[in-house]
Amino acid sequence: MSVSRLIKTRRSIRKFRKKTIAKRLIDEILEAGRWAPSGLNNQPWKFLVLDKAKKDSLAEFTHYSSVIKEADKAILVFLDKKASYNREKDLMAIGACIQNMLLYIHFQKLGACWLGEILNQKDELRRYFKIPKNLELEAVIALGYPSVFPKRTKRKQLRSLIEKR
Ligand SMILES: Cc1cc2nc3c(=O)[nH]c(=O)nc-3n(C[C@H](O)[C@H](O)[C@H](O)COP(=O)(O)O)c2cc1C
Repeated sequence: MSVSRLIKTRRSIRKFRKKTIAKRLIDEILEAGRWAPSGLNNQPWKFLVLDKAKKDSLAEFTHYSSVIKEADKAILVFLDKKASYNREKDLMAIGACIQNMLLYIHFQKLGACWLGEILNQKDELRRYFKIPKNLELEAVIALGYPSVFPKRTKRKQLRSLIEKR
């Protein structure tokens, strides 16, 4: 698949089949995240992969509990404050890291949804999972083998995005 097609056909997947993702694939997904660019190459990300049993407790912390319950696994993506040098740039790097993983997930014909609403309860979640204070949750990626492929989502017209001077 061309890179252009990969980017354009990626969808947020919220319904999954009951099939387990092999550990090898999970490692490859994290590897895609690891190769994201970051300011000063500080690589400020950390990951926590939760499988079936542990992941279901995550569902308590978001309105999107059904997505987490349906998924095979959840990847929690943290900003490691110990590695941070500029919060704004570090958060952009985390975004790049997440997008790398989403594209790799799609490339492998898996599906995923980037969950941000869960951040409203990140402190409660951190206490529940005994996450060290230097790790700040930035996103949860729910992933699995897709069962429903949503229709193409809309995007703004390119010309409306380009400023002219
Ligand atoms: C920062 C961020 C937070 C998001 N949070 C959620 C979320 O909490 N729940 C959800 O179902 N989708 C969430 N999404 C997915 C978006 O709804 C989705 O990317 C958007 O509607 C475009 O659809 P597409 O990804 O299929 O192209 C989030 C996406 C981003 C980038």
